[in-house]
Amino acid sequence: MKFDIFTLLPEIFSPYLESSILKRASERDLVNVQVHDIRDWTHDRHHITDDTPYGGGGGMIMKPEPLFEAVEAVLGTPLACPVLLLTPQGRVFNQVIARELSSHQQLALICGRYEGLDERVRQHLVTDEISIGDYVLTGGELPALILVDALSRLIPGVLGDPKGATDDSHATGLLEYPHYTRPPEFRGWGVPEILLSGDHARVSRWRREQSLLRTLQRRPDLLEKADLSEKDKEFLGNIRKNLGDHDEI
Ligand code: ADE
Repeated sequence: MKFDIFTLLPEIFSPYLESSILKRASERDLVNVQVHDIRDWTHDRHHITDDTPYGGGGGMIMKPEPLFEAVEAVLGTPLACPVLLLTPQGRVFNQVIARELSSHQQLALICGRYEGLDERVRQHLVTDEISIGDYVLTGGELPALILVDALSRLIPGVLGDPKGATDDSHATGLLEYPHYTRPPEFRGWGVPEILLSGDHARVSRWRREQSLLRTLQRRPDLLEKADLSEKDKEFLGNIRKNLGDHDEI
């Protein structure tokens, strides 16, 4: 999968992209990230990319010309792939959107800076807008990295384990069950007996129930959309039945 990132801060991407899993993914040609400096498409001596807003008010606005030129030079016209703008006004990113976006061979990501960008970029260049949550950052660079990371790990072969991302929190619509590793006792705290039993069917059922329990405790909203079997519903029903109205789960 190819990502073309358009930014005013190209230098901040390589430390992350050249570490661990994403580095290996690009060495194996599973992921290709190209970072483009929007300033390279300015034509004035000072490489100016922003200007004051029409109508007054504070803050600076990213100019349309360098952004259009940059994206069209890299993607060609018609544009070779979807053009995503990272912005707190976009649809809120989640695992379903990650899966949807990972079906593309190529994506362009525009990282906004300053107070915002000229609306004509949104209207005539951008094809989708993504927010990584209901808070405001100083720019779209960290959100772009988050998107690249979340999408890359869905590409077959990127994660070492062939089972990959199938059990992750959110991949199943539920939060993930708790994990333990050696030692079997640490500072007096043990490991659930069932995990040491070697009984795979019981372990598997225990994990499913822990996922359901954890989701009920922490993110009950997710249960409404999760794909639940009859057995799952019975388990949750029993938990709810055994609780009084004011009990903590
Ligand atoms: N740029 C600034 N804040 C952002 C957010 N929450 N999501 C995506 N891009 C942003």
